[in-house]
Amino acid sequence: MRLDTVIRGGTIVTASDTTRGDVGILGDKIVAIAQDLNPENASRVIDAAGRYVMPGGIDVHTHLDMPFGGTKSADDFESGTIAAAHGGTTTLIDFAIQYKRQTLRHAFDTWMAKADRKAAIDYAFHCIITELGDAHVEEMGALVREGVPSFKLFMAYPGVFMLDDASIFRAMLAAAKYGGMICMHAENGGAIDVIVQRALAEGKRAPKYHALTRPTTAEAEATSRAIALAEMAGAPVYIVHLSCNDALEKVREARDRGLAAYAETCPQYLYLSLENMDAPGFEGAKYVFTPPLREKWNQEKLWQGLAKDTLQVVSTDHCPFCFKEQKELGRDDFTKIPNGGPGIENRMSLVFSGGVNGGRFSVNRFVQLVSTAPAKLFGLYPRKGTIAVGSDADIVVFDPNEEMVISASTHHMRVDYSMFEGIRVRGVAKIVLSRGRVIVEDGEFKGRAGSGEFIKRRQYSGV
Ligand code: URP
Ligand code: ZN
Ligand code: ZN
Repeated sequence: MRLDTVIRGGTIVTASDTTRGDVGILGDKIVAIAQDLNPENASRVIDAAGRYVMPGGIDVHTHLDMPFGGTKSADDFESGTIAAAHGGTTTLIDFAIQYKRQTLRHAFDTWMAKADRKAAIDYAFHCIITELGDAHVEEMGALVREGVPSFKLFMAYPGVFMLDDASIFRAMLAAAKYGGMICMHAENGGAIDVIVQRALAEGKRAPKYHALTRPTTAEAEATSRAIALAEMAGAPVYIVHLSCNDALEKVREARDRGLAAYAETCPQYLYLSLENMDAPGFEGAKYVFTPPLREKWNQEKLWQGLAKDTLQVVSTDHCPFCFKEQKELGRDDFTKIPNGGPGIENRMSLVFSGGVNGGRFSVNRFVQLVSTAPAKLFGLYPRKGTIAVGSDADIVVFDPNEEMVISASTHHMRVDYSMFEGIRVRGVAKIVLSRGRVIVEDGEFKGRAGSGEFIKRRQYSGV
């Protein structure tokens, strides 16, 4: 069989198996997996000896080119997807935002235009709903049929993104009817707003008050309410950026009862804590995102949640704002600091390093968390999320032992700081293929902006 590429002699890792062998690629697909593929039949041979050959990472929570708080996130679809590729991520799902008095269609078209001719890896969209009339409900059905089967709703940010419970419930009923998935930002925005106003009245304006005014109970309450509403509606619910043990317990209870309740966490909640908010001067603004950082003991609870499947996914919530020009907007008032942090490039190394090399879970569980479960939950599987004949040749050749120190001076994200500055990780993506093409090799980007494709996704069908 003639092949374009053979990846030779690596350890092929999927969510279920670890085998030694070769992977053969023709065009943009994996066409052979065998003990010994003849290298003479291939135009290109990649030596993977001593390395893992894994499905490309799937980051289901990013905000590229997103307007927020009077500015917009610093990475667009070109810089953000190139940074993602450097870290071993080959597909992302971003968010198309419906603003008030707009159709969902308009949101989708707007974000499609942002990504067009820019994305260097494949991409898809969830649709954020901020207003839900009858026509929008109909639009949800149309979007599901057109390959956008997931919707993000907010229980926080009153007056901006927050939906009331009735609208949330109606969106969930529609998701249940059309085969959609509801992604929920679960924080009690009303209660938080009261606490925030009280803090401001007391003159508490420094970045750390962003964290101190958003208690874990507000996240746990909203998580519980989201799950209860989804249960009544018969819809699956996916809690985004879960940050603390109090909320984790609510997901655990729901899953123990057999509900279709899922949750992701993000590397910032696994590696950083409230202590980062005490950085000198205004530096704490680097860690202003929602939900906020929590007391350090929550980190190990989240790692255990990943190991035990209370949490199914690690995404990044990549939403970068430059420290100098953008975070600065809130120097005198923490409520004006644009919410979000950068991480799209670091997810695979951070999760591998802390999870696999840290002895918390297997390499197969790692693949499940960063690629296979995201693909299954969000309708990309088996095209994405595994190494199998017929799947897209989105592949990462990963060195499990190479070490790297994360730093803004070497990263590729278009932002002037790193949340993970100085953290040493063990486990690095060395060669990254997107649909058969090498797009990163030994730290060098070899792909092309615009070569990423919009991927139509299937309806929700479980994990
Ligand atoms: O602070 C964050 N997380 N910014 C992005 C928007 C969101 O809520 O995910
Ligand atoms: Zn959110
Ligand atoms: Zn987000």
